[in-house]
Amino acid sequence: MLSGAPFKGKFYMITGGGSGLGLEISRRLASYGAGIYILGRDREKLVKAKSLVEESGSECNYFPVDIRDYEDVRKIIDDIFSSSGIDGLVNNAAGNFISRTEDLSMNAFLSVINIVLNGSINITLETGKKWIESGRKGAVVSILTTYAETGSGYVIPSAAAKGGLNAFTRSIAVEWGPKGIRANGIAPGPFKTEGAWKNLIPDQSFEDYLVNKNPMKRLGNTGEISELASFLLSDYSSFINGEVIRIDGGEFLRGSGQFNDLSMLPDDAWEKMRMRKDKK
Ligand code: HXC
Repeated sequence: MLSGAPFKGKFYMITGGGSGLGLEISRRLASYGAGIYILGRDREKLVKAKSLVEESGSECNYFPVDIRDYEDVRKIIDDIFSSSGIDGLVNNAAGNFISRTEDLSMNAFLSVINIVLNGSINITLETGKKWIESGRKGAVVSILTTYAETGSGYVIPSAAAKGGLNAFTRSIAVEWGPKGIRANGIAPGPFKTEGAWKNLIPDQSFEDYLVNKNPMKRLGNTGEISELASFLLSDYSSFINGEVIRIDGGEFLRGSGQFNDLSMLPDDAWEKMRMRKDKK
């Protein structure tokens, strides 16, 4: 979608870049000429991801790390800034599982919150400090979710963490905007990545339900998110700051009010209602 070479000579860091959506975003940015740094827990996945990203002709380096190891992450950011530095950051790494909340331990809450909220804040903060010290401009994109705005049952650790990251992203956009740093969020609806499906979708009937209730009658393609992320990191979006863009086929709005559920009415019910009106 983006024409020219919007990322030529620029570098981007993607957390959770070894698989799923993070890998897709890394590959897309690389295809536009960006140098890529990926962070992830699984070295094997990172090695494979590096060669996939480099297929598009850009350079890719990886760092095996759990982003809950905040000190390790700081060292990695120091390392990166002692060479090329980065021009943008994608807070993509996440952890999530479905559970009734009364079944959760505090450790279960923390295992998610320490990745999604504290991990992303640590990375953004350390990167932001480097940008501010050096006067370099930067762009942050945080992968949120549509329930970051509303909360959601059965994924409450994730809802609390994504809600916090939503507030952090919008707040930092205002505070760091004058320093040339933009921060935006992407709020995806249902996208079938391996991690999300394994952890969050109990069975095929739930997937079918998600497809059926979506106004577009399908799930999203990760390519649709990576294109949006590329746009938000690029100078094509240079005046977009502090926005959270929903990408869910209209699923969120479909849940609003009572009358969208009339989509379940069969044609003959509409016919009867029309006749009733004509009789008045
Ligand atoms: C209840 C659970 C649980 C579950 C773990 N715990 N899974 N409790 N139900 N299904 C509890 C454990 O019992 C433990 O508490 C604590 O959480 C930590 O568990 P560990 O397995 O030791 O943690 P860890 O190995 O660090 O794993 C982290 C994780 C895991 C978050 C729990 O799911 C993970 O690594 N996920 C990464 C991949 C992922 O989740 N991808 C999906 C992201 S998609 P106790 O008290 O027993 O010690 C996404 C999109 C959202 O977020 C939008 C979707 C539409």
